[in-house]
Amino acid sequence: MRHHKAHFKDKTVLCNCDDPRVSNFFHYFAYNFEHLGLKRLITTCYKSQSSDLFSENSAESAIYLEYLGDKNGNRVPDVEEIGVKQLNGDGDFRSPECIELLKQADIVVTNPPFSLFRDYITQLIEFDKKFLIVGNVNSVTYLEVFNEIRSDRMWIGPSIRSGDREFGVPDDYPLDASGTRVDEHGNKFIRVKGVRWFTNLDFEERYEDLTLHKKYKADEYPKYDNFDAIDVGKVKDIPVDYDGLMGVPITFLDKYNPKQFRIIGSFNNGQHGAELGAKKVIAVSQGKELKWNGPVINQKPLFKRVVIQRR
Ligand SMILES: C[S@@+](CC[C@H](N)C(=O)[O-])C[C@H]1O[C@@H](n2cnc3c(N)ncnc32)[C@H](O)[C@@H]1O
Repeated sequence: MRHHKAHFKDKTVLCNCDDPRVSNFFHYFAYNFEHLGLKRLITTCYKSQSSDLFSENSAESAIYLEYLGDKNGNRVPDVEEIGVKQLNGDGDFRSPECIELLKQADIVVTNPPFSLFRDYITQLIEFDKKFLIVGNVNSVTYLEVFNEIRSDRMWIGPSIRSGDREFGVPDDYPLDASGTRVDEHGNKFIRVKGVRWFTNLDFEERYEDLTLHKKYKADEYPKYDNFDAIDVGKVKDIPVDYDGLMGVPITFLDKYNPKQFRIIGSFNNGQHGAELGAKKVIAVSQGKELKWNGPVINQKPLFKRVVIQRR
């Protein structure tokens, strides 16, 4: 959040996939309301949470919170300063009443359910909102997301670039994967790989050039069987002097400076390959023949790529 402070002055922030009891987003914005100079903070709570003060109401409805800043001068959000308001429905971010709140927001900040990421981002685009949201790096292969990135209307935010991140999970969450943890208070945590910020808030580091050292040599950079571009297996090996098209791993987007490179397309089997104009060729994977328009070299299918070109 510290990379984006300047964006929040006099703005209405909406956290629309948040249970305010546990959301660190609500906590952060409420406690930093004056520091950021916010105008209004709205948090909608999805009903199907474990029962408590906010969601146990006999009605099938959820609530939303509104915070307009510190009134009594103690510079902390007190319970009586937070307006708890009733929603008619379950607080689904797609419901008409949540969309009404979305319309009132300037910037949306949350960690939406990864399973609904596609719907979530499509809605933000439709309503032309500024946003800072957490998602999985593989979401860039959704065409909706990819097209926004290619058009430089969305990018990967600063601060998370690789590795995994720890997330708090509810008590009933099964801790059956490695890297899980329970702290001394019994709070459960899991580690999630491939997490990134997705945003359309600008930040300076985005325009820093990726420093490259390697020079192009035809024998080190094979061409694809089905598309006129060279394959670059590692982002750090992007040749500094090659002007044609290059296929690079999607983690390139972590380092992408739109003034240094242009994004041509997503190279992946199916609709992406078709939109890029890649031919369908025979590829052999584990002894099986496939018809493939994702990246193929010497009949071997490769992992998805982003096709880029130096500016
Ligand atoms: C990954 S969690 C993030 C929670 C919160 N942003 C935080 O950081 O603590 C996703 C949240 O979205 C809520 N949720 C799930 N489906 C939803 C929907 N259709 N509309 C709104 N919220 C939803 C879940 O209940 C959960 O609280």
